[in-house]
Amino acid sequence: MSRRPVPLLLALAPAERLLVMADLPPNHHAHYRQFGGLFGYLAGLTMIVGRGRDARLVADLASVGPGDVVVDIGCGPGTAARQAAARGARVVGLDPSAPMLRLAQLISRFRSTAGTLEWRRGAAETMDLPPDSVSVCWSIAAVHHWQDLDAALDRIEQVLAPGARFLAVEKRTEPGATGNASHGWTPDQADLFASILTKRGFSDVGVSNHTVGKRNVVVVTGVRPRVELHG
Ligand SMILES: C[S@@+](CC[C@H](N)C(=O)[O-])C[C@H]1O[C@@H](n2cnc3c(N)ncnc32)[C@H](O)[C@@H]1O
Repeated sequence: MSRRPVPLLLALAPAERLLVMADLPPNHHAHYRQFGGLFGYLAGLTMIVGRGRDARLVADLASVGPGDVVVDIGCGPGTAARQAAARGARVVGLDPSAPMLRLAQLISRFRSTAGTLEWRRGAAETMDLPPDSVSVCWSIAAVHHWQDLDAALDRIEQVLAPGARFLAVEKRTEPGATGNASHGWTPDQADLFASILTKRGFSDVGVSNHTVGKRNVVVVTGVRPRVELHG
């Protein structure tokens, strides 16, 4: 994978540059523990509270409405997927974690939706949906966990219909952050992900910053062009 030059990095000595580069991939937590078992339930419970604003932000940015087919990759306990369904969309919530999906199903029983909700176990890299069938795809606080960026983006390109919107949402983090504070993207990581989308032929690629409650989030958006991506 080639990288767009990052001026800030060029100011560093080669050894320091190597250290920073090691943190740079947008999926820098690819080898984080899986959200299985008791840990998965506990992590999922922490994601139930306070995610409504992120869900509304992404649904607003994607202008989700009736007629949309939405895939939420790494849906966790499903707050954003339910938000899309509440706006009348047909929604697939996809996640490799069984505990996350159980929580998503359980909570959804108590919520009425205008659209439809389906929960599927699976990862971004192996997403199995019909080609050109999706009008909106998003991934919230999950791209930094994807194991294989290229494989995941290959699948996303396959399932997106021409003109469909793709959004990646991550918490804004600071370079050098550790632990929980590192679960997100620095400005360089967001820019790098945007340049990957551009190189793949997505159009209207953009990076925007938002304040959600007390948190800052960064959103990278792109549109699948109406012509073939790899024509
Ligand atoms: C921090 S949680 C975010 C959950 C939810 N999107 C939210 O914002 O509340 C990250 C989620 O990504 C999922 N995940 C991890 N690796 C993944 C992959 N390769 N493909 C799709 N989802 C993945 C995890 O199981 C987990 O549910």
